[in-house]
Amino acid sequence: MNANTLTAARPISTLQGSDFLSDVIAGLSSDPRTLPCKYFYDARGAALFQKICELPEYYITRTEIDILDRHRREIAAHLGTNIELIGLGTGAGTKTRILIEALEKPAVYIPVDISEKQLRQSTALFREIFPDLEILPVCTDYLQPFVVPSPRRKAARNIVYFPGSTIGNFAPEDAVEFLRRIANLCGREGGLLIGVDLRKDRHILEAAYNESAGVTAKFNLNLLARANRELGANFDLQQWHHHAIYNSREGRIEMYLISETRQRVHIEDRQFDFRAGEKILTEYSYKHTPEGFAALARNAGFEFQKMWSDKACLFGVFYFTL
Ligand code: AVJ
Repeated sequence: MNANTLTAARPISTLQGSDFLSDVIAGLSSDPRTLPCKYFYDARGAALFQKICELPEYYITRTEIDILDRHRREIAAHLGTNIELIGLGTGAGTKTRILIEALEKPAVYIPVDISEKQLRQSTALFREIFPDLEILPVCTDYLQPFVVPSPRRKAARNIVYFPGSTIGNFAPEDAVEFLRRIANLCGREGGLLIGVDLRKDRHILEAAYNESAGVTAKFNLNLLARANRELGANFDLQQWHHHAIYNSREGRIEMYLISETRQRVHIEDRQFDFRAGEKILTEYSYKHTPEGFAALARNAGFEFQKMWSDKACLFGVFYFTL
């Protein structure tokens, strides 16, 4: 699949190719039952995720920002001047702002995000802070092929920025396939700057995904609330709870919604029966070793250049070239 086929520059293009209803029905009909994690990020879910990022147990965002902050000059030097920066899932743009501030004369910034509200807000903000930078936002599910708008000025090379350890949502084989698509987006001389959560003690991980304020539970349950709002489903939110476990064999956090009782849920003309204790898998969040991730990227055609990390090696910001 070539992610880079046609071009058409619209100010903000709208979500294409993602079908909540059919994905929910397919996921709940499968064994084990699943719901795709990309549907977390409606307006409410995106706001809840922002709150998660500020929780003491959720070290990921804070640590990644800290790494960027400390190493911004060196990172910018690796990326070079006059680049086309394509940001995937850049959300509110906190990290990208730090990066762009450090870059030398970037040619264009293309943020790609599924959350329209955040994309609008961050684009407005970035246009204010970086008045000389061309910004071409694309609102889409980047898992689907999408159109990359053409900048006014020709850039020296394309750099894809994929922050937040979102790559952790992919099983390793799928991650390689996705990185191959990113390699297509980058093209010749291109590069990839990517944030990756590293393997660590399970207690740190499980605390991050079962934090004490219960925001992650709300974030997870919002998938069911969203199905109620948008699909007219009748999930009783009182009858479900959130739980995350670290599967050390697979090196991943697994996030579940667990049915408190035996219950039946209706979605349009379908019905789904759940046993007490039955689980719906809503998210994988893979954790990598530095060597393991470099090898994975190599399988997608990327050459490892450098990893920046924090003192405790919780998180890695990797730079690869083609
Ligand atoms: C946005 C996918 C990186 O896996 O840590 C946070 C999402 N889920 N808490 C992660 C998430 C539960 C997050 N990513």
